Amino acid sequence: MKIVLINGQNHKGTTHHIARMLIDQLDGDVTEFFLPRDFGAFCTGCAQCIRRDEVLCPHAKALAPITRAMDAADVLIFTTPVYVYHATGAMKTFLDHYGWRWIIHRPEPSMFKKQAVVLTTAAGAGMKSAIKDVQDSLFFWGVGKIYTFGIATHADAYAHMTEKKQRRTARAVSKIAERIKIRVGRVRPGLKTRLFFRFYRKFILGHLPANDQAYWAETGLKQHVPW
Ligand SMILES: Cc1cc2nc3c(=O)[nH]c(=O)nc-3n(C[C@H](O)[C@H](O)[C@H](O)COP(=O)(O)O)c2cc1C
Repeated sequence: MKIVLINGQNHKGTTHHIARMLIDQLDGDVTEFFLPRDFGAFCTGCAQCIRRDEVLCPHAKALAPITRAMDAADVLIFTTPVYVYHATGAMKTFLDHYGWRWIIHRPEPSMFKKQAVVLTTAAGAGMKSAIKDVQDSLFFWGVGKIYTFGIATHADAYAHMTEKKQRRTARAVSKIAERIKIRVGRVRPGLKTRLFFRFYRKFILGHLPANDQAYWAETGLKQHVPW
């Protein structure tokens, strides 16, 4: 099982600790990225990636290793601590660079067969909105199955969390790990993704710019469903 871990922060704090607990149970080959260390450029708003080609993005070269790793992976894990009720700015600027990959433009066919996990921790609150920040992109990338876990730690480190919270975290992580292991290699996207894809292809695709339409034809997305 190939795993890519993308951390929305440079440091190895509580959120990273929980990701590592999950990875230990998955027992796969892990490629890990830290943001902004491994990618921290802000989108310039030129929209060349969407209107023409993603290689025209001024940051395409820096982004390419992460894109390649994600495309080759079975499981994508995203971590972000809650910063002011949302995902970190580093995570947001990373996700901004993949607007061209949304189903409404040029989705990567392999995404529909991948599983992804969004992990977040907060001191007290904001997990739901931080998870949604990442989950929205993963849904629109077409990721087949998305698991989420967030916890209010009320602590400054994993070791300082109460035993009850540590037990709850361990249980949730084990449950996600079990589900991933059962599904790996045979993921079928959920109903919402399947319906969105089919509706979009039938009613909207014909009105898209030529580059997007050509992509759907070349990749076979226009002719077949990718799951
Ligand atoms: C800039 C900043 C903003 C934060 N905003 C929130 C917040 O909105 N809600 C909250 O409960 N905790 C907030 N926190 C606390 C962290 O989310 C929390 O300590 C988290 O568990 C840290 O995870 P880490 O150890 O992986 O960095 C914030 C921390 C920082 C540094």
